Amino acid sequence: MLTQEMQERLTRVGPGTPMGELMRRYWHPIAASSELDDDNPTKEIRLLGEDLVLFRDARGRVGCIEPSCAHRKANLSYGIPEPEGIRCPYHGWLYDIDGQCVDQPSEPEGSRFKEKVKLKAYKVEELGGVIFVYMGPQPVPVLPKWDLFMWEGVTRSTYSVDLPCNWLQCHENSLDPVHFQWLHRYYGMWRSSKNMDDETRAGFDRTSAVRGKRHVKIGFDRFEYGIIKRRLLEGEAEDSEWWRIGHPILFPYTLRVGQDHWFEFQCRVPIDDTHTMHFAYTVMTPEPGEVMAPQTTIPHEIRPLYFENGRIKDDYVVGQDQLAWIIQGPIMDRLTERLGVTDVGLIMYRNMLDEQMKIVEDGGDPVNVHREEKSIITLPTEFAYYPGYEETGGPFRDQKLTKPELERSLI
Ligand code: FES
Ligand SMILES: [Fe+2]
Repeated sequence: MLTQEMQERLTRVGPGTPMGELMRRYWHPIAASSELDDDNPTKEIRLLGEDLVLFRDARGRVGCIEPSCAHRKANLSYGIPEPEGIRCPYHGWLYDIDGQCVDQPSEPEGSRFKEKVKLKAYKVEELGGVIFVYMGPQPVPVLPKWDLFMWEGVTRSTYSVDLPCNWLQCHENSLDPVHFQWLHRYYGMWRSSKNMDDETRAGFDRTSAVRGKRHVKIGFDRFEYGIIKRRLLEGEAEDSEWWRIGHPILFPYTLRVGQDHWFEFQCRVPIDDTHTMHFAYTVMTPEPGEVMAPQTTIPHEIRPLYFENGRIKDDYVVGQDQLAWIIQGPIMDRLTERLGVTDVGLIMYRNMLDEQMKIVEDGGDPVNVHREEKSIITLPTEFAYYPGYEETGGPFRDQKLTKPELERSLI
């Protein structure tokens, strides 16, 4: 059982908190590139408990600065994009992407006052149609070039949903393979049965046929970028890709999933202690011989969280996940939870978070902080078709069967 102190340590992400400091060692996907254009050159964001403004200047560069103009505190989300940066709507002070004030049109000619005015600014990079922000200390780490951002000849899209709950309960779900069988099959199919006609519903057996295959065992391995999750389902052999390959959970909060020609990163971006932005990056790979049309822009969808009647949207798989996270409360109470054998993965992950916070407290680089440029980092995902491969598993298809570092039988 956790102590109150550890619960706070694991969940709080504001400046100066242990988790906030750990999170500040990573690049965060905070918006889609397509969200900032000529019609909408700015976006108000909140990240790790700080309010900020993203803007695209007239030269196409993206900045991330504190929202209030240093002069009389007007919000720069109403600023005008110019070649040198963003100009405040109120009296025209101009800030560049580093937050430096570079023009104060009503100060006397020759005044050097502007040199003393600088807003807080964070580093921004764009990759694969995503805007990433880094809020930590120098030196700035390399933004990792994960395969999904780099593949050519594929079709990409992104979506985001704002969730009223703490990031950790969202991401602990990634370490919990068994919820698939219940939340997405038993509950999810019960939800869909409500839209069936009477005859179909009468023949529908939600307690067995559609429960989803039972989990025989679950396994977890630490690897250089986080944790690999494996599951063995009823009727599957140990050398199936489910167990041999599995799929990764990138530290600190990104799940990679995939099936057939669909791959997705699901990032649980901590907005503040009680809000999370769920940002997903979806890639469709071509069928053998298929040539996908090149994309001029990567579409982004801001998904609604609720139905019109105010209930949480649970008519799709990620919606069901989001429902499960939200109904645990704004910050779920880990002091009174009762963990079972299916929760070994999330215990491993909590221990890893604590260990990595200590590494930061001791002045080190935590896991999955990158200091060297690599042209592409390819990640394992079971039963998915990588570009250029005719079989599932891609470059991992011949990976040998090994015993997981942490394994639990569920039968
Ligand atoms: S408040 Fe921004 S220039 Fe005056
Ligand atoms: Fe799920």
